[in-house]
Amino acid sequence: MKTGFDADFLFGGAISAAQADGAFTADGKGLDTQNIRYFDPAWNRAERDHNRNINMTTARFNAALKAIEPGHYPFTRGIDFYHRYQDDLALMEEMGMKVFRTSIDWSRIFPDGDNETPNHQGIQFYIDLFDQCHQRGMKVFATILHYNIPLNLVTEYGGWKNRKVVDFYLKFVRVLFESLGDRVDFWLPFNEINAGKFNPYNGVCLIKDQEEDYESAIFQCLHHQFIANALTIKLAREILPQAKIGGMIARFTTYPATCKPEDVLETLHKEQYSNYFYTDIMVRGEYPAYMARYFHDNGIVIQKAPGDDALLKAYTIDFLSFSYYMSMVATTDKNWETTGGNLVSGNKNPYLKASDWGWQIDPIGLRITLNQFYDRYRIPLFIAENGIGAEDVLEQDLAIHDPYRIAYLREHVQQMKEAVIDGVELIGYTMWGIIDIVSCGTIEMSKRYGVIYVDLDDQGNGSLRRYKKDSFFWYQKCIASHGEDLS
Ligand code: BG6
Repeated sequence: MKTGFDADFLFGGAISAAQADGAFTADGKGLDTQNIRYFDPAWNRAERDHNRNINMTTARFNAALKAIEPGHYPFTRGIDFYHRYQDDLALMEEMGMKVFRTSIDWSRIFPDGDNETPNHQGIQFYIDLFDQCHQRGMKVFATILHYNIPLNLVTEYGGWKNRKVVDFYLKFVRVLFESLGDRVDFWLPFNEINAGKFNPYNGVCLIKDQEEDYESAIFQCLHHQFIANALTIKLAREILPQAKIGGMIARFTTYPATCKPEDVLETLHKEQYSNYFYTDIMVRGEYPAYMARYFHDNGIVIQKAPGDDALLKAYTIDFLSFSYYMSMVATTDKNWETTGGNLVSGNKNPYLKASDWGWQIDPIGLRITLNQFYDRYRIPLFIAENGIGAEDVLEQDLAIHDPYRIAYLREHVQQMKEAVIDGVELIGYTMWGIIDIVSCGTIEMSKRYGVIYVDLDDQGNGSLRRYKKDSFFWYQKCIASHGEDLS
């Protein structure tokens, strides 16, 4: 029996290109689907949440194509990681991080997605970035696609609905494998592949008011992403045989609200339709039987090409990763109180506290999830995201006191350790938003996850200077002690 984390356990941190890089026209980068998400700093919290839920509309999309006004498009500025990454990596090295997860911006490599040849300045950026990580003692966990695709692939091809986008994606992946193959330790073809269902603009680039049969379109896009995932693994097996390729979902851990069988059945369905459908395809290599009934009952029709099923079966992932922020409750009671959550709102659990955004804090749920996944699949697991969004205060003396974040992280690391002792094969943990970045859901800066503070506000004002929060020193100690000293 293990008694704690192995010495080579990978404690680290994660960000994504769209939320961090900025520099949206630098060195040949093209516009991408996240660059054009509109935000108004005057929105109150409810409006920010509402605008997350209505996602993209044709009107907003077209307005952005006409003009990207400074101040309303925070994904164009990020935190300027593109120009400041050396200093940021130095801070991560100081913290002792063993692995750094970020995503590759497709539109830096192929600005329009369908270009004949890649943009070498874009490739060079990632060569330099990943070399620096290794020089600073960090492995590289590269997300190939974290939501943002070249905008031209939406305007000219309709995004993931069009199977041609799978070919463009594969061309992009081949360039990455050939130019960055020996610099990446873990590859992740898609961030949270189930996001396509819960946030279809982010996940699969669909604009709702343009779809006649929105639900079928979502599942068609998802099918194309599953095929792209399998083809990526096939390509890796051919030209990069040592590569480790993972899958990822946003994990919605769900409990029955009561022991009433109807609530338990509702929980089973939530688990199947929101979570296991995606992981079953990527790990077991086939569409699970329960989805045939779901598609039938919901009138969903998708087109598969000959050979698709064989492809999914032949090329499955090496490790399973997931984001974990909170848990939810399933009930048949329509009047049950609801609360916020990652990608979706959920039902409230009276036994849990929540973040200021209503995401229910449940460290034990992480241990439960790790056990559930490992029991089901028996492949290595990686926690690709976990953390808490909060409003932090930069004090006069430039300190940031964030005991709420330390408490959240401590309790989650404790439960990870319990899962390791339970026998779960957990290889790494990349804390989300290790440095403050633009929120993916609500597009604001004031929802911060980092242990490194960035001086930038919702209006885009600030020096962009970086400061260490109290949690920075806590995480440093946690890493140095291999997760033993959590005081
Ligand atoms: C995950 C995404 O769903 O949640 C991240 O992969 C995102 O991109 C994170 O930032 C936290 O969500 P939010 O909306 O608080 O930024």
